Amino acid sequence: MGIYVVTGAASGMGKASAERLRANGHTVIGVDRSDADVVADLSTPQGRSTAIRQTLELAGGRLDGAVLAAGLGPVAGKEAVIAQVNVRGVIDLLVGWRPALAATGNSKVVVFGSNSTTATPGVPNSAVKAFLAGDLDKGVKRAGRISAAAAPFTYAATKIAVTRWARRIAVTDDWAGSGIRLNIIAPGAISTPLLEAQLAGPQAKRVEGFPVPIGGFGDAEQIAEWVEFMLSRAADFMVGSIVTVDGGTEAYFRSGDWPVAVPLSGVPRYLLQMFRFRS
Ligand code: NAI
Repeated sequence: MGIYVVTGAASGMGKASAERLRANGHTVIGVDRSDADVVADLSTPQGRSTAIRQTLELAGGRLDGAVLAAGLGPVAGKEAVIAQVNVRGVIDLLVGWRPALAATGNSKVVVFGSNSTTATPGVPNSAVKAFLAGDLDKGVKRAGRISAAAAPFTYAATKIAVTRWARRIAVTDDWAGSGIRLNIIAPGAISTPLLEAQLAGPQAKRVEGFPVPIGGFGDAEQIAEWVEFMLSRAADFMVGSIVTVDGGTEAYFRSGDWPVAVPLSGVPRYLLQMFRFRS
């Protein structure tokens, strides 16, 4: 049985994931703003330090896995906090926990992305780049330029940024090379308090009108089953993957966009030689 940390463990998909792991005999350290083993506000550097430190203490310096589910949805007026929680609340914590994840030699990490990363039109790449560079204020400003209703673009840009960050580091010596399997889950519309708040607000029409080929919304327990799978032996050979669970929305918008061949400019020279391209 393993020791797992789950952020956002007090509600929705984080809560369902934590409950499922506990029911299967694992030790779970829940992190959230309240109702958690580690109470910390991930929107502040101090809160993130607390979350890192107290988790490491409770885990005894060894983690079999981490689930980064804490996050804020596209709430108007909260753009700066969304960026703090959705970007720094993932990156800072994972960097802080990395030695404990490496200590077990075979650990698994699941980062909560979103299908908004690939299904939101026109998210400015400059916002994503700013988030990745650590300039959250600039990211929020850039995302806000595109529309008077900035929150959906800020939200999608934060999720694109953490997804790209996670995929980039997943394959490095510090992560895959240290036995850490880091993958991303990209849910679509899932019935949780986050979605319910959107359905009760000014964005209700957009959420309800979004195409979901299979119909309806997903539920938190379904996603928890995927999370458990991504933490299990089944994921030993899985690194940097994005698991989309969204009823078909992403495929509806993007079926023609990938898979796509690697551009020649991105391929190392020795590999090009192996493929024996005509010059
Ligand atoms: P939820 O609102 O039910 O749970 C999110 C949890 O994060 C809450 O317990 C909340 O207290 C915690 N949290 C928020 N801000 C925090 C802070 N400053 N410090 C500490 N904890 C904080 O949301 P849900 O739907 O379960 O979302 C989980 C993840 O999945 C989030 O990252 C969300 O962005 C993502 N997601 C949700 C979708 C949905 O339709 N519900 C769709 C795609 C992604």
